[in-house]
Amino acid sequence: MPESLAYNLNFLHPLLMWGLLALSGYGMFLGIKAKKTRTADAEARKPLIKGQFAKRHFQIGSLILVVMVIGNFGGMAVTYLNNGKLFVGPHLLVGITMTCMVVAAASLTPLMQHGNLIARKVHVGLNMALMTLFLWQALSGVQILNNIWEKRPA
Ligand code: HEM
Ligand code: HEM
Repeated sequence: MPESLAYNLNFLHPLLMWGLLALSGYGMFLGIKAKKTRTADAEARKPLIKGQFAKRHFQIGSLILVVMVIGNFGGMAVTYLNNGKLFVGPHLLVGITMTCMVVAAASLTPLMQHGNLIARKVHVGLNMALMTLFLWQALSGVQILNNIWEKRPA
């Protein structure tokens, strides 16, 4: 592969992941609205039901799941293409942890749909921790991007 193409691929993962951060924020909003709908009293529930928040949260959640898994492996692939190795540092390790967390959270779907309260709590706990890690991952990602830019081919 030409060196310049491999270099330019470095920008794909950061762009995708910033998009995913925004999408995850939206997914969180829908999840919180879904909970509001589920726990509201009969009167407050009526207008909330029209929002179909649970359904929309599930759809956006599926999108978050696939983009995070592919984006994570994509970042590793591009790093390997450019360096012939991976850098076992915080961004790699936190990235892999986040990917495992979102997979675990999504796998609780069948249980949540049967009204399992523990599955719901674990889902929310995993994903709220995920959002916190995501903010940190975005900052460390920009630092990596900065290094890559400093070492750009002339
Ligand atoms: C949110 C903004 C993010 C930015 C700006 C960012 C930036 C970067 C950059 C510049 C690289 C170097 C390779 C490349 O350019 O493709 C990289 C690698 C990587 N990223 Fe990200 N990233 C972000 C989020 C994430 C997230 C959310 C995950 C996982 C859930 C992730 C997982 C990885 C992994 C596993 C690597 C390979 C690291 C290595 O092997 O050294 N990144 N990232
Ligand atoms: C950004 C990450 C995510 C956050 C912050 C989040 C948050 C939430 C919250 C707050 C609830 C409501 C729990 C309750 O009613 O007590 C929920 C429910 C749910 N989530 Fe997520 N979630 C995320 C990602 C995902 C993903 C990746 C999937 C699956 C692909 C998913 C599928 C579901 C399902 C099926 C429910 C149950 C909805 C119902 O009541 O029918 N979520 N989530």
